[in-house]
Amino acid sequence: MNAIQTDEITLKVENFQLANISLSIPSRKTTSIVGPNGSGKSTLLKIISRLITANNGSVYVLNKNSRLYKSKEFAQIITMLPQSKDTLPNLTIKELISFGRSPHKSFLASRFTKEDEMIIEEAMEMTNTTKHKDRLFFSLSGGEQQKARIAMALAQKTNILLLDEPTTYLDIAHQLEVMELLTYIKAHYDLTIIMVLHDLQQAAFYSDYMIAVKKGEIVEKGSPKNLLTTSFLREVYEIDAKILFEDGYPLIIPNTRRK
Ligand SMILES: Nc1ncnc2c1ncn2[C@@H]1O[C@H](COP(=O)(O)OP(=O)(O)OP(=O)(O)O)[C@@H](O)[C@H]1O
Ligand SMILES: [Mg+2]
Repeated sequence: MNAIQTDEITLKVENFQLANISLSIPSRKTTSIVGPNGSGKSTLLKIISRLITANNGSVYVLNKNSRLYKSKEFAQIITMLPQSKDTLPNLTIKELISFGRSPHKSFLASRFTKEDEMIIEEAMEMTNTTKHKDRLFFSLSGGEQQKARIAMALAQKTNILLLDEPTTYLDIAHQLEVMELLTYIKAHYDLTIIMVLHDLQQAAFYSDYMIAVKKGEIVEKGSPKNLLTTSFLREVYEIDAKILFEDGYPLIIPNTRRK
């Protein structure tokens, strides 16, 4: 089954357009969307998560046209961590993570239920953020903030998790920690994860399926092993490089002029 299907979606903004995007994103798998800066990756995630609306075409989420979901119902199925870390208000980590429960609260309820509390605690434990729960978001390091944001998404208890560049600004150890965390929670909760990544090695290693976007079009899609080739790097990024696999981990070696 597909978690997401897009049927000929098109979006025009000023000097850019996403053109006729038809995609099937598998359920319960990890999919990475890659491609050069400005190619339309974030725009595509925003359309899927209904932050923006395409000019034409349809998006199906769990086989239902996404327009037919009520907002609250939609927020119980799919959530997205946006790319930019817009300045958050002065919230503690626990308050931030608690926001994940909003789509599940009834209009009149002002307090969290026991179940909400349990889910919030579990999200903090999963992401190792319990120790930061009373600290203000902005006082955490980039890596700690990212884990808190993932905890907020987890507390929302959706089956589909979209993440726009979850490892940007993190050092290699924290990048790997986030990738391992996502792999763990995906397996533990049987989630569908769709993320935009720039690190092609990590994207290929941690994903079941990859989609490459260039200039608003899908140029390649498939399993990372088949996709990541010399000609792929030339086509998508216009670079010359060779690819080696070491213990199943892909290594991209660029052809530099310095020899
Ligand atoms: N509302 C808008 N108005 C005008 N141009 C826009 C708008 N939204 C996006 N764009 C343009 O569309 C293009 C694609 O943007 P998008 O954010 O989807 O790229 P991206 O692939 O996520 O890039 P990056 O890897 O740098 O995050 C960019 O050139 C961007 O400037
Ligand atoms: Mg982007």
